[in-house]
Amino acid sequence: MPRSTWPPCPGAVCIAPSLLGADFAHLAEAVHALEGSGAERLHVDVMDGSFVPNFTFGTDTVRSLRRETALPLELHLMIREPERHLETFAAAGADGITIHQEVSPHLHRSLTTIRGLDCRAGAAINPSTPVTLLSDVLELCDLALVMTINPGFGGQKLIPRTLEKVAALRNEIDRRGLATELEVDGGVDERNARDCVAAGATVLVAGTAVFGHADGPAPGVRAMLGSLTG
Ligand code: DX5
Ligand code: ZN
Repeated sequence: MPRSTWPPCPGAVCIAPSLLGADFAHLAEAVHALEGSGAERLHVDVMDGSFVPNFTFGTDTVRSLRRETALPLELHLMIREPERHLETFAAAGADGITIHQEVSPHLHRSLTTIRGLDCRAGAAINPSTPVTLLSDVLELCDLALVMTINPGFGGQKLIPRTLEKVAALRNEIDRRGLATELEVDGGVDERNARDCVAAGATVLVAGTAVFGHADGPAPGVRAMLGSLTG
């Protein structure tokens, strides 16, 4: 499938289902089940067993996913030395690549590189990382990701304090008139999605809430979207 254009999200809220919540033996079915669901992109968590204590997908999986869907692939790299792999992930079919501040001493350079690879550039921070550490690169961020759990595993509970960080980043993004998307990732569900949006998030990542939904992933997406308006 050709690389799709990134859908506009300004002012609206996007749901980005995390494939971490899917059955890895049936990833293609999981992806197909989300087409037409209202989900506007797929969140692909790449873990290296070092920066975070878990392993997930690599470049070959991204390449295979790219063949299966025209939905944008948003990669969340939870790996050390992400700058060594940006080109490979872009070539594999990523539409967006988010790297962690904590493992990117040259964040300015890495974000510039991602944009130069024709991908949307994202920077992520862990719950313990101050939002101010993104201040000097916010203009280079198409997306800022606030981890609302400690990264590594799905199915954890959202840490309430992290929504204060979302609100702080929202203020900063608006004050500077930036179009940076603000994403929350971890423990987002139908019960707290509104709080995330009220804090200023525009992209909601959801693994368990989507793939663990009793009626399947597409109803899971619709239920979350419904919780924002209901
Ligand atoms: C965890 C990942 C998340 C994860 C969220 O480190 O970054 O994207 O899939 O899963 P849930 O929605 O189950 O918390
Ligand atoms: Zn993620």
